[in-house]
Amino acid sequence: MPWYTEEQIEEVRAANDIVNVIGSYVKLKRSGGSYTGLCPFHNEKTPSFSVNPARQMYKCFGCGAGGSVITFVMEYENYTFPEALESLAERAGITLKAEEADGYHKEQESIKMKLLEINRKAGSFYYAILKSAQGKTGYDYLKSRGLSDETIRHFGLGYAGQGSMNLYNFLKHEGYSDDILKETGLFKIDERGAYDKFFNRVIFPIMDANSRVIGFGGRVMGDAKPKYLNSPETKLFDKSRNLFGLNYAKLGKNKNMVLCEGYMDVIALHQAGFTNAVASLGTAFTIQQAGIIKRYTDEVLLTYDSDQAGQKAALRAIPILRQAGINARIIHMEPYKDPDEFIKGLGADEFKNRMDNAENSFFFETGIARKEYDVSDPEQNTKFYHAVAKILLEFEDKVQRENYLEAAAAKYSLRRDDLKSLVVRYGTSMAANTGIARIQEDTRAKAKNRKENQGISYSYKLLLSLIIERPGLYKQIKDIVQVKDYFGEPYSEVAQMLYRQLDAGEVVPARIINHFSEADVQNTVADMFQTGFAAELGDEELEKALNELVVRIKEYSIDKRTRELTDMNELKGLIQEKKALQTPAKLHIYLKDG
Ligand code: UTP
Ligand code: MN
Repeated sequence: MPWYTEEQIEEVRAANDIVNVIGSYVKLKRSGGSYTGLCPFHNEKTPSFSVNPARQMYKCFGCGAGGSVITFVMEYENYTFPEALESLAERAGITLKAEEADGYHKEQESIKMKLLEINRKAGSFYYAILKSAQGKTGYDYLKSRGLSDETIRHFGLGYAGQGSMNLYNFLKHEGYSDDILKETGLFKIDERGAYDKFFNRVIFPIMDANSRVIGFGGRVMGDAKPKYLNSPETKLFDKSRNLFGLNYAKLGKNKNMVLCEGYMDVIALHQAGFTNAVASLGTAFTIQQAGIIKRYTDEVLLTYDSDQAGQKAALRAIPILRQAGINARIIHMEPYKDPDEFIKGLGADEFKNRMDNAENSFFFETGIARKEYDVSDPEQNTKFYHAVAKILLEFEDKVQRENYLEAAAAKYSLRRDDLKSLVVRYGTSMAANTGIARIQEDTRAKAKNRKENQGISYSYKLLLSLIIERPGLYKQIKDIVQVKDYFGEPYSEVAQMLYRQLDAGEVVPARIINHFSEADVQNTVADMFQTGFAAELGDEELEKALNELVVRIKEYSIDKRTRELTDMNELKGLIQEKKALQTPAKLHIYLKDG
């Protein structure tokens, strides 16, 4: 991939006025300080797509697409970042000179290309074995699970034979070094030798959205454990950012996607004609996966297993989808466990029927809460009110929240006004009470660090967007929450750039967005500039929320820096910071000064 400097990127961006460029794709109408039109990224009849010339940004309030002029071209033309940049440079008559990528980036790129090549060869190797006499066990197994030859080919299913170095020997013969083979995650290589991780398993290649093989899953053909073995994360394979089946699901003109738990579910659904099925990859569904789905649709039908674990997984996925602006409905599969078994048992027509009757996720959630509490007991009844209020709070759209509130009040005979005041009360301490925080409480014991991170990024997002909306507050905030208090991509870099721009007295959102080259990261960054959530709150509520955010971010930062402390001299400073946090009056941020 060619490599461009930030200066070149900024030059191209500045030379391509966003209204001009988008105006050549979309009919725009002036409305106040901005322009509106029909969003080209989703179907709509009334305009919710807006272009802001002052910020040089666009945003769709319907589907959540948003970013700079470069993001727009990437998403519209399906270009990579450099491709979009090149086309915009040409449009503005700028001659771009690709820099030699620096050594590090060049090396990383070439490792990725090599890994892709090896994965492709490994996939063909497994497929060839499946189709050979050696692969009869695997082939018979897949057949016994009802898969046709066409389906096996379509998904490139394979078989890793009995031997423990088949693939290794094959790839060695092709001339690959142990160093690069190690990076594939497909082998165990140590002083004693090299072994294939997959043997005597049927193989499911995992492809990215562009049908490139990035990893593998392998299933035992019996009851041994583990049932499925998956490639570990590699330079290519990030489980949280990929979905099994997406390469095919994205092609269909379906109005929704079906999200399920397993490889076999996706394959059985596609074979039965439901080509819009995808699965998360043997891990909990992530916010990044929701963001990816959102590019294609804003409705997801959930077909998680109908057991306890499946129900829990659904309860975790729903708020994540909701946060990404996706409405979820639940497909009930009783008396079967999963879509694969369901289709075998009752057929595709009945599955279609269940799809059409999928339950609204809000009533799924409240229904479960309703069963949990004995509402004839006043204490438990109160708890039920609180549970419903917390779920309602996940709707960011006021009108939608109001509608659900009415519906819940009617359905469960709840006192509307009491429910409403609970929602408002929780709303003022929002960061602590969103769905993401609920998920966090749930899984704290399990994946402590990872989930905490998800919660903290939400706080970063809120604080940064607040600073953007009320730059007058920056002076007070910057002394307390400093750049070093933000962790993780893209927040730490966004904070750094934004603080620098504010110090210099000029905020250029598009420049910050273009610092990142992945469209979904650009969307995330663009979102920070457009939340408008400060406007939704009264001053008193806002001040309270702001100070809660600040404390939360500081606490997280101090804890993290304490845990990762290497230089004992820093400890004194950290202890002081912690102390200051315990005397909130010292740190309080006042809205009226902003
Ligand atoms: P399930 O246990 O529900 O299996 O795991 P399944 O999809 O019904 O598989 P079959 O029908 O018995 O073949 C659901 C998904 O969880 C992941 C896999 O992605 C699987 O498809 N998983 C499960 C693992 O990664 N490892 C395991 O040991 C089990
Ligand atoms: Mn199954």
